[in-house]
Amino acid sequence: MAKHTVVTMPGDGIGNQVLPEALRILKAVEFDADYIHAEIGWDCWRREGNALPERTSELLAKHKLGLFGAITSKPKKQAEAELSPELRGNGYSYFSPIVTMRQRFQLDACIRPCISFPGNPLNFIRKNLQGGFEEPRVNVVIFRQNTEGLYAGVEWTNPPEHVRAALSTHSKFKPFVGVPGPDLAISVRIITRAAARKICQAAFQWAVTYGYKTVTICEKPNVLRETSGMMEDEAKMVAKNYPGIALWSTNIDAQTMWLTKNPEDYGVIVASNLFGDVISDAFAGLVGGLGFAASGNIGDEVAVFEPTHGSAPKYAELDPPIVNPIAMFLSAVMMLEHVGEREKAERIRNAIAVVVKEGKVRTYDMMRIPGGGNAIRQGAASTTQMTDAVLRQLETTRELDYAVVERESA
Ligand code: NAI
Ligand code: MG
Repeated sequence: MAKHTVVTMPGDGIGNQVLPEALRILKAVEFDADYIHAEIGWDCWRREGNALPERTSELLAKHKLGLFGAITSKPKKQAEAELSPELRGNGYSYFSPIVTMRQRFQLDACIRPCISFPGNPLNFIRKNLQGGFEEPRVNVVIFRQNTEGLYAGVEWTNPPEHVRAALSTHSKFKPFVGVPGPDLAISVRIITRAAARKICQAAFQWAVTYGYKTVTICEKPNVLRETSGMMEDEAKMVAKNYPGIALWSTNIDAQTMWLTKNPEDYGVIVASNLFGDVISDAFAGLVGGLGFAASGNIGDEVAVFEPTHGSAPKYAELDPPIVNPIAMFLSAVMMLEHVGEREKAERIRNAIAVVVKEGKVRTYDMMRIPGGGNAIRQGAASTTQMTDAVLRQLETTRELDYAVVERESA
């Protein structure tokens, strides 16, 4: 029996293209694992009325380690319309299987590294004072609370009377008292102290482990006094246990401005669910965008790794596939790190770094050309060709070759 068992969930669209490529890479570094395929996503919803079937949840509960591609989500009405006819009208409602998975397994920390690869033509550059350009080295890891906040799912359009009654006891609800129910939508932002403390703790621990000097709590406590206030209070409490690491505090709006001004100044950033989602996409844009953005959803027992991108349906049918598999590879790298295979992880990261730096093999996004059927004719590498290039590099750098590439960690 292999040392690890990974539940693989390619899901929809390009998830089916990039996940198998990651398995080729994992095989090349001889990751000692068995893989169990599990279904998730839109077809499950259509056939069964559940995008995260129970059998998939059971596999995850048993094996505790998942590698996930991407799923397709559609608005409520469209979801109902696509449900198989015999299920329609039986009270099925569509829930995002990823959100469900995060909540069900308490995958409460979402970790999103945004680390630039030198030579990536998609890296952010800015003007310097001499009139030329400079490319700041971005090395940021975002810790996003993954189960609470505005994504907790406590929301209504036309809230029930007792909810309105409860809200009416708050003086700030006065302007909304007369709004007709169907015209009133409410999403509740819930933060618990335990979860706030846990995500801050995880962020500081990461900073210690990987040598970052600062942790930035990115919230909005001047306006969201209660919820952001609690996040910030807990960050301050946790910081006391880490005298070697500075705690910075930024507001989400200002942070998105400073993002392009001085991204190299930031190390670990911690935020609640929505703000973490926003700021991690923003930073990902500085280091190559969706083709490079990986993430881990980590709970006490179960961990699931996935690229940040979705199922990109408009490219899912192309043959050969054209999307960039690097985000998926980096997700697999995070999985390796999570299970303690740091050397294998480092080898893959180095191989990717060399391929990016050499620039001979680039998917369409790295060439800044439109995706689609013409991309390959214009010289873009296919998904498979990118994998092949990384595999070749893994072959030639069997030994860790730190001279070739600047090390990724801080
Ligand atoms: P998307 O991330 O699927 O694609 C947006 C665009 O980004 C694509 O059209 C493509 O131009 C580019 N892109 C994405 N991945 C790429 C890659 N690996 N290489 C190169 N370019 C890439 O987001 P979109 O179009 O908003 O959503 C499509 C579907 O995916 C929707 O149903 C949405 O709900 C779902 N989705 C699922 C996510 C997940 O599974 N975690 C996350 C985001 C969206
Ligand atoms: Mg997002």
